[in-house]
Amino acid sequence: MTYYITTPIYYPNSSPHIGTAYTTVAADAIARLQRMRGQEVHFLTGTDENSQKIIRAAEKLGLEPLPYVDGIVEKFRSLWQLCHVQYDDFIRTTEKRHAAVVQQVFRRLYEQGDIYKAEYEGWYCTPCETFWPEKKIAEGKCPNDWCGQEVEWMKEESYFFRLSKYRERLLAHIEANPLFIQPVSRRNEMIRFISGGLEDLCVSRTTFQWGITVPFDPKHVVYVWLDALINYISALGYPDGELFRKFWPADVHIMGKDIVRFHAVIWPIILLALDLPLPRQIYGHGWFIDRAGGKISKSRGNVEDAFDLLERYGSDAVRYFLLREMQPGADGTYSEDDLVMRLNTDLANDLGNFVSRSLAMVERYCGGGVPTPGAPGEREEAIVALAAEVWGGIEKKLLACDPAGALDELWRFVARLNRYVDESAPWALAKDPAAAERLGTVLYTCAEAVRVLGIFSAPFMPGVPERLRPLLGGAVSFHNWADGGLWGLLAPGTRVQKGAPLFPRVDLR
Ligand code: ME8
Repeated sequence: MTYYITTPIYYPNSSPHIGTAYTTVAADAIARLQRMRGQEVHFLTGTDENSQKIIRAAEKLGLEPLPYVDGIVEKFRSLWQLCHVQYDDFIRTTEKRHAAVVQQVFRRLYEQGDIYKAEYEGWYCTPCETFWPEKKIAEGKCPNDWCGQEVEWMKEESYFFRLSKYRERLLAHIEANPLFIQPVSRRNEMIRFISGGLEDLCVSRTTFQWGITVPFDPKHVVYVWLDALINYISALGYPDGELFRKFWPADVHIMGKDIVRFHAVIWPIILLALDLPLPRQIYGHGWFIDRAGGKISKSRGNVEDAFDLLERYGSDAVRYFLLREMQPGADGTYSEDDLVMRLNTDLANDLGNFVSRSLAMVERYCGGGVPTPGAPGEREEAIVALAAEVWGGIEKKLLACDPAGALDELWRFVARLNRYVDESAPWALAKDPAAAERLGTVLYTCAEAVRVLGIFSAPFMPGVPERLRPLLGGAVSFHNWADGGLWGLLAPGTRVQKGAPLFPRVDLR
């Protein structure tokens, strides 16, 4: 089976930050799980470069747009590398392979009468790259509550896209496919919005030249959102590329709530007009906000330097924090204190400590060789049953784009394991020669749980299985998700060692 997952393509008008990192890391966790499940995955990310904001950001530095974005795109790539994001393709909208498809789509929509020429008169918000009708604007400010910046009056000849023509078909599709827009709060919001009517969309600009030109009318450049959305098919080589045939329609486009509207309205209508199947799901997560309630964003200046955070706390801890803190349908709060607290409690105390105490006891009481278990007691049976349940729960939640829910499941297991060690008290069993078999059962259960934890953690924190492998003798495989659902794969006699802590505790700066 194939699986196609995408992130938004980000504006390279300044460096990436932890808000941007959330979407990419969430998509990466899902993609990793799917690969471990044996799916053939295509994971696409990239940058949205033909935007007026880019020209303005470059101008401020006295640079031409292209050399300016080249520098920032490198930062995106290196951040994803530091976060261990394994994408299959990175598309830049300044690439020829993209521009050619955008021009082809524009021409086709024009020739079939879905795009027509008229005059646009109204407001435009450059930070949001959004056209606003007169009635929406009060005091010359963008109505998006997270933006509120000044809008500009525009009066220019423009091409328009007949969104209105496809409104009913789109609504019918949304209604017939409850999973098409998720979570449900976003779906309801979109149904309300589309039911209120759709105006035709202005899809070209003439006041600047940076962008993809309209092929039959080169004084126009294609509106950045029409251009950007097409990346999801241009990157696959639409219309006749092999990847396109293999991977379209996308399984999920994951994004922040700010841009669900573009993906739930303009994008499906482009696809309907091209006679293409619609993506299976559009998932809109919340935002990371700061403690004062403001969105973490480039323009607000509350952006923690993601590079600095990664250097200080490591990719697994940053990934864990981001993925754990964003509940479906809600915003997540970011603060460095909370990150450090999660690192010290969940990762160092709960997970790390279970691993090191388990392996230390195998070293101390069994000479470093995994013991042969005796018959399982009730407690062991409960652990095995819980492992299978959590295995299924992680899969279900993560594939539903809820990494926080999946991690809650995983930590249910970690908490139970720590209790299991306390209740089973191997240190007391070790003192009683008559309890040797029982000790073997308990310590086998612990060591086997460490193996399973390596698999469960792999999609979220890819460094964990890497660090666990040498501790479990070097030969254990953490690659197959199916192996996480089985109990008893760790061979008795395997040499283990406690090694260095999986997550050393850190002090807040
Ligand atoms: O909108 N919390 O690009 P963009 C969580 N180019 N996610 C956040 C976030 C935060 N505080 N801040 C940003 C664009 N994001 C267009 C997309 S797609 C065809 C074109 C994430 O650079 C989130 O995914 O403004 C949001 O939707 C995206 O970055 C916006 O990135």
